[in-house]
Amino acid sequence: MYPLLFKTVFRRMDPERAHHLAFDTIRAAAAVPGARGGVRAVAAPAYPRLRVRALGLDLPGPFGLAAGFDKNAVGIDGLAMLGFDFVEIGTVTARAQPGNEKTRLFRLTGDRALVNRMGFNNDGSAAVAARLARRRHGQRRPYRPDTVVGVNIGKTKTVPEAEATADYVTSTERLAAYADYLVVNVSSPNTPGLRNLQAVEVLRPLLTAVREAADRTTTARVPLLVKIAPDLADEDIDAVADLALELGLDGVIATNTTVSRDGLRTDPAHVASLGAGGLSGAPLKERSLQVLRRLYARVGDRITLVGVGGIETAEDAWERVLAGATLVQGYSAFVYEGPLWPRRIHHGLDRLLAASPYATLADAVGADTRKAHTS
Ligand SMILES: Cc1cc2nc3c(=O)[nH]c(=O)nc-3n(C[C@H](O)[C@H](O)[C@H](O)COP(=O)(O)O)c2cc1C
Repeated sequence: MYPLLFKTVFRRMDPERAHHLAFDTIRAAAAVPGARGGVRAVAAPAYPRLRVRALGLDLPGPFGLAAGFDKNAVGIDGLAMLGFDFVEIGTVTARAQPGNEKTRLFRLTGDRALVNRMGFNNDGSAAVAARLARRRHGQRRPYRPDTVVGVNIGKTKTVPEAEATADYVTSTERLAAYADYLVVNVSSPNTPGLRNLQAVEVLRPLLTAVREAADRTTTARVPLLVKIAPDLADEDIDAVADLALELGLDGVIATNTTVSRDGLRTDPAHVASLGAGGLSGAPLKERSLQVLRRLYARVGDRITLVGVGGIETAEDAWERVLAGATLVQGYSAFVYEGPLWPRRIHHGLDRLLAASPYATLADAVGADTRKAHTS
């Protein structure tokens, strides 16, 4: 059904409009109590074997929706209804901003990929915090009242790089109380200069300030993660891994989109005509996996790794777990696979785990990378 809908409707529409139409439909369904339960029963059956504990949280499974889909925290319950085990909202910046000029999202259907230069279009951290507060107080049972919500923060475009820390701190102070975990995003290619914040001498004070701001704001200790780009050199990945250990960070998310256009099947002239932006989806798979392996080899089980980038199938998700990811996320394949995608991932993962020598997902985390390093 979805492939037909994609071919006949979504594919003919501007990708950003298609996103809003699909997201509005999900939100509308979630607002109808009867429909919500029905969709949930079909899309998100429970898989007790896939339960995981990560970042001090109990999750129904390891598979979350990556940042960027629900930038403003308007559809968390609808997305949980479809079976995502956690939803990372954002990127949210201290000030509301419109993002880059449209058109800014493109499909490379033949590559099962997307190119985006959205540029952190979002309502700003004050509005998003107010929305999260209302949701928390108004949450109705039954139905996953306790969906794990990650909050991903970034820098306001007009704020100079030298003042980036204050911008992140403002968002942290507003949002930490509503975050099950907090992500410092320094890896989007669409905010000029943002990725320079990945250099450890800049990242150290930034992460330290965010940690302190979170601790000032809430008595509960909010897990703090950093999200990195796949375009970092190997030494820089190691440096971020070492910094994460040094600062007692809770996790690293690998990876964001890439600025590379290597290995695409789509006509290079067409790709070039789309202009700048981050590439996501299938072509990102190999590099994201490499970055994850490298991180796991460095940090082992000391911090939580979240694998994201090009995950399309349960096999892809399982490969990330074996490489070292306790949690996995996806975005682009949701566009191509549709609303039953989380269900297929869970079903497949459950079968793969059952057929493996591991009793739990936790036992499987990093098994392949450990083997590669001991043999
Ligand atoms: C349209 C679009 C918008 C995105 N916006 C954000 C964002 O605001 N913050 C962020 O950290 N990542 C953002 N991402 C990156 C995704 O979270 C993810 O890291 C990346 O797409 C790789 O995963 P995928 O191959 O499964 O899509 C965005 C991705 C897409 C396709």
